[in-house]
Amino acid sequence: MTMECHRNSDVPYFAFPIRRESGTSQFSTSNHLQERPLMLNVQAAEILRLADGERSLNEIMDYFERRYPHVEPSLLREKILQVLDAMTRTELIWWRDKPVRLHAIEPPRTIFWEITSLCNLKCLHCVVSAGKRNSDELSVDRCFELIREMAGFGVQNIAFSGGEPLMHPEFKNLAEAVAASGMSIQVATNGTLVTREIAQWLRDLRADVQVSLDGSTSLIHDKMRPGNRAFEKAVRGIRHLLGAGHVLTVGSVVSKNNRHDIKNIITLCENLGVQNFRLIPFVPKGRGGTFAGMEITASEMKAITEMLISERKRRKINIIPLEFEKMVQGTACVQPASPGQSLGCGGARAYGTITPAGELLPCHFFEGVRADSVAGHAFADVWIQSRFLNYFRSLTVHDLHGACRDCRWLSACAGSCRAINFAKGDVFGANKGCWIAEEIENDGVAATA
Ligand SMILES: C[S@@+](CC[C@H](N)C(=O)[O-])C[C@H]1O[C@@H](n2cnc3c(N)ncnc32)[C@H](O)[C@@H]1O
Ligand code: SF4
Ligand code: SF4
Repeated sequence: MTMECHRNSDVPYFAFPIRRESGTSQFSTSNHLQERPLMLNVQAAEILRLADGERSLNEIMDYFERRYPHVEPSLLREKILQVLDAMTRTELIWWRDKPVRLHAIEPPRTIFWEITSLCNLKCLHCVVSAGKRNSDELSVDRCFELIREMAGFGVQNIAFSGGEPLMHPEFKNLAEAVAASGMSIQVATNGTLVTREIAQWLRDLRADVQVSLDGSTSLIHDKMRPGNRAFEKAVRGIRHLLGAGHVLTVGSVVSKNNRHDIKNIITLCENLGVQNFRLIPFVPKGRGGTFAGMEITASEMKAITEMLISERKRRKINIIPLEFEKMVQGTACVQPASPGQSLGCGGARAYGTITPAGELLPCHFFEGVRADSVAGHAFADVWIQSRFLNYFRSLTVHDLHGACRDCRWLSACAGSCRAINFAKGDVFGANKGCWIAEEIENDGVAATA
């Protein structure tokens, strides 16, 4: 990740958990970029703990000089810089221009909860690489506690995802506990396991359901979602849900495999009686990251967005607005971004994701990052104190560079979703999923609207 990975700024920011290696005096840390954890001695672990984004390099140096008065200060500085530079090279340390100062952190409105990594399908593009149940999944008892903690903290919606949430052996009881706590429920499912009874039960819980359909035929859908008649079963699930009276959303991840089929998927949904259609941009992460080449280009995304805008006018189904639609239509607000305007979407602020192992992330597209976990810590504490979340909360649109910085819609979109950029190692660069950024980079100006 080419964050601000150079030492000419003042404030080192280390965002990852440090673990003590059992039975030794060593510690370890890792992020998604390392295959193996990085071993740390006591001093290195201490330096990283102090690199909390609130202290400048000089303050960290002063701290160590006070703590080790017998060590020659220049030697001490050299050692500290060695650790920070090594961590910067491995991209575990990011640098900020000034200390991070966060104000009151509100509870998230919605938590997307990947309740299990278990799945009956093994989709080629799966961002969470679901399939087998991981051995480190949250215990069922901890899941019930978490529901109480999240409701008590003020979370309003739980959006169950996975893996396939319906595969979780306790899903029924967990969902009922969420409903009893007063939080509302959303469920993202591949639809294949939805029986008439499950559809009715979800309806009784007033759950908002989204079913994935990545093609209008088994040929296209099952290519992305290999499994035992995945398409046929998903359509059967959709029929059961509609039969039970759900207002249903179908979500399609757009890729090279189905870009030509989007209109057909919408038609199929309309014919089935589905109420909402959501197009989901493909993010090359998880198993999807190993399928380079599946991603459509930013300009193809522009053409699809224009197509959806025109389809919306003649369709009964509600086509949920896409990210950069307002810019195509010229209805986005054009005004300078305010100095403190937060960067990106509502991840780490309005919503977050709990992974099957309990890690709390801005959203599921940050899969693979080793962030603080709610497995052994109270939800509210992790939400408020997580360095990884606080890092994203501390970013503003003025951290951006490249085309987004020059874009007239910056205040309207705040640089948008940063997940693709994060996956490609350039959080602050021009948005890699936005054709307007591409136009500005190529022509110096946005051709759009
Ligand atoms: C990980 S799935 C879990 C829920 C359920 N198993 C399903 O497939 O709908 C949640 C959502 O993420 C979408 N998704 C999976 N991989 C993705 C990727 N690489 N990029 C964007 N969305 C992805 C799925 O299509 C689905 O809408
Ligand atoms: S996208 Fe959903 S259905 Fe497909 S493997 Fe991932 S979790 Fe399973
Ligand atoms: S170029 Fe950047 S700021 Fe402009 S619309 Fe695209 S993502 Fe938003």
